[in-house]
Amino acid sequence: MKKYYITTPIYYLNSLPHIGHAYTTIAADIIARYWRRKGEEVFFLTGTDEHGIKIAKAAQKAGLDPKKFVDKNSRVYSSLWKKLDISYDDFIRTSEKRHEKAVEEFLNRLKNAETPKKRTVLYEAEYSGLYCEGCEAYKNETDLVDGICPDHKTKPTILKENNWFFRLSDYDPVLKKQIGLNRMQILPEVRQKEVVGFIKQGLADFAISRANVGWGVRLPFDRKQTVYVWVDALINYLSAIGWPDETKFKKLWPADLHLMGKDILKFHGVIWPAMLTALNIDLPKRIFIHGFFTVGGEKMSKTIGNVIKTEELLKRYGLDATRYLLISAFPFGQDGDIFIETFDKKYKGVLADGLGNLLSRVLNLVEKSYDGKIPVAVPSPRKLTSVGKYLEEQKIGQAISTIEDAIVFANQYIDRVKLWQMVKTNKDEAGIVVSGLCSLLREIGLALEPFTPSTSAEIVNRLDSDKIKKGKPLFPSIK
Ligand code: MSP
Repeated sequence: MKKYYITTPIYYLNSLPHIGHAYTTIAADIIARYWRRKGEEVFFLTGTDEHGIKIAKAAQKAGLDPKKFVDKNSRVYSSLWKKLDISYDDFIRTSEKRHEKAVEEFLNRLKNAETPKKRTVLYEAEYSGLYCEGCEAYKNETDLVDGICPDHKTKPTILKENNWFFRLSDYDPVLKKQIGLNRMQILPEVRQKEVVGFIKQGLADFAISRANVGWGVRLPFDRKQTVYVWVDALINYLSAIGWPDETKFKKLWPADLHLMGKDILKFHGVIWPAMLTALNIDLPKRIFIHGFFTVGGEKMSKTIGNVIKTEELLKRYGLDATRYLLISAFPFGQDGDIFIETFDKKYKGVLADGLGNLLSRVLNLVEKSYDGKIPVAVPSPRKLTSVGKYLEEQKIGQAISTIEDAIVFANQYIDRVKLWQMVKTNKDEAGIVVSGLCSLLREIGLALEPFTPSTSAEIVNRLDSDKIKKGKPLFPSIK
């Protein structure tokens, strides 16, 4: 048995989860479930990012002490993940002792480490720059559009303080080499090119501590400062599995897959491997970056009023359909636009009239014409083994189309041969067709398990029962 360690980003607690966060988490769950079913020992990690100025301010605004605030908001995430049937194995919170201990240890080790050029990795210096609180990062003039952060539409503030710095500039050649050799695969390929581009532009040293942010992990060797929230956050991938000494760490590291959206590529594609290299820790095997979506052509925002709440989708479509509609809304890996108006159409077309109807039609024939028994053992006319291959490469979109094609194929086949008439005129031959379709339905049911776990179990259970019945619609019609 091999291990498979997969992570999502840990989500900021300054705001409540929206379908963007659900999107990444469902994608990770699909991949985790795939490997688990294949028999691998999966460790699926998610969690919340709880320190830093952004969260301290949000807590203040809510009139709560930061710890109380994060305790409350973190539960909103974990309970949403339960509602979405997310099969995570651990939920790390950066305000937990186990995490803070690892962060301190990591920083202490960095303090004693040397760069490839035999200089100290960390040094102290005065710094002044433009800081975007939304990004929790310093910005260059060139990152801004008319002086405004394009991602957060806010004006960065000028920050001047004494900080500890990470000598990232010494890691240029090492990072280039490691990425060139695919020591850490960056997928899709365009994202790898982007990272190579970042390195080519030249890597600037960055501050790993903050002088004026109280809400964070204290720097163990300079307790006036707290650890920069991104450095703190990235270490979650290690702290959750007991770095540096626990057997769990030794078994699970390096991570097999860090999954995330494109907004945080630089942190995972440059800073994280540099931090790990500085301490001689193996790099994660792969990072996969998916695209960002807008809603009806606009960035989701409270001001525009187009924020889609996952709970609303759950209420309207139910659990499995919500997972399915979200993950198949646009091609995984690319940017996309979500039109909530198309969800109803897709629910009806693909799920209710496609899959649900296929199951009803076939099982109805088994129930009515073959006494509830699959007449003969006939292999499936289509194999869906490629679904797994696609999932292994995070090609979630292709995996879904393969399944959808099989559903369309089966429904069209039934129509073409007029199976409901054939059962009356040529029962034996129709029995072979019906049996083949049952085998295909089983394939479809199994292939759907990572995407829609309960529906998948329902399909297989109905096919396995001693006396097969048509049963209730898989996807009831919605108003
Ligand atoms: N806390 C950091 C991550 C630290 S990881 C060591 C953070 N948190 S976040 O709450 O802002 O979550 C960002 C992630 O949410 C994105 O990388 C992406 O996975 C997901 N998404 C948020 N909005 C999204 C869209 N509109 N579209 C697609 N994914 C989205 O960054």
